[in-house]
Amino acid sequence: MSFNLQGILRRDLNVIVPYEAPRVGEGIIKLDANENPFEFPENIIKEIWERLKHTFTRYPDPMSTELIEALSEHTGVPKEGIMAGNGSDELILNILLVFGNGGHVIIPTPTFSMYRIHSLIAGAKPVEVPRGSKFEVDISAVAEVCKSYQARVVIICSPNNPTANTTPVEDIKRLLEQSEALIVVDEAYIEFGGESCLKLLNKYPNLVVLRTFSKAFGLAGLRVGYLLGNPEVVKEIHRVKQPFNLNTFSQLAARTALSNNSEFKSLVGQILSMRDKLIEEMSLIKNVTVFPSEANFILFRTQLKGKEVFESLLKKGVLIRNVYAPGIEDCLRVTVGRENENRFFLDSLKAVLKGDG
Ligand SMILES: Cc1ncc(COP(=O)(O)O)c(C=O)c1O
Repeated sequence: MSFNLQGILRRDLNVIVPYEAPRVGEGIIKLDANENPFEFPENIIKEIWERLKHTFTRYPDPMSTELIEALSEHTGVPKEGIMAGNGSDELILNILLVFGNGGHVIIPTPTFSMYRIHSLIAGAKPVEVPRGSKFEVDISAVAEVCKSYQARVVIICSPNNPTANTTPVEDIKRLLEQSEALIVVDEAYIEFGGESCLKLLNKYPNLVVLRTFSKAFGLAGLRVGYLLGNPEVVKEIHRVKQPFNLNTFSQLAARTALSNNSEFKSLVGQILSMRDKLIEEMSLIKNVTVFPSEANFILFRTQLKGKEVFESLLKKGVLIRNVYAPGIEDCLRVTVGRENENRFFLDSLKAVLKGDG
């Protein structure tokens, strides 16, 4: 018998392009993934190592108990309403496996590309609703589309990646009231700006809030995210959770990071002032349109093709993100780096736009 690979494949996955990100070589300034640009604080690393002893031989705690206790204290949400995940990416997929499969998922775009990809993986149909000219979510249009598709899930990113604007809590509230779907608000960048929807959790059982340690808390490499919601909803998501989804080291590191929250708050403060300075300087460059930002990254457009600017910057040693998508054609996204990295990026951008590519 010969193996017929095509014969056993799920054909609906053909539209998904496997995720790839450029590997960064020595000397490249990495401003492409909205990470925290600072070194992880040495004192906190030491604290993690101290607490890590004797944990290698045993499976991790499947319920991430101590991390969830710490998150409950941090957010004020009861423990039963919290789940920790291997990055919020894992939680997005889990939500869609439980609620999206076989139905429609409404996604205001442009936004984080994984919502569409995870919908497809979960066997759900993504329905994209274009954002407005200032990238605002048209709540009435979303509610309408939701109704006509009898959608199961809506995912709103706020602050939104890659457009960096927020959706007001009042708008989310309106949607929660107008829709029977599960409304997922991804607050991956909430530490940098915007108002959190957490306070709505008590009143709206159809709200789920997603958060991550990958951005403000500088733990992108350890993959820790969490979701906050109605305990009944969280209980259902437990059905698809991998038993040991979050390794011991990551659970411990996230807990330790939380207990040093003030240190990260101060790093966030520094990132915000560097962001404002970067926006100011970018706005002075001829032919550069800079969009307002409430996150740790900036969306911008130049007179050149996005791909051309991206490649010329990479040749100079700066990696940013070419975010080509409907509504943001030829736009690019740069993460706020450290002072010297931002300076190098600015000088390189100026040179590229002058034709010195
Ligand atoms: C809006 C948004 N949500 C979720 C994620 C994924 O976060 P995590 O690293 O927790 O999987 C990202 C990462 O870039 C993001 O931009």
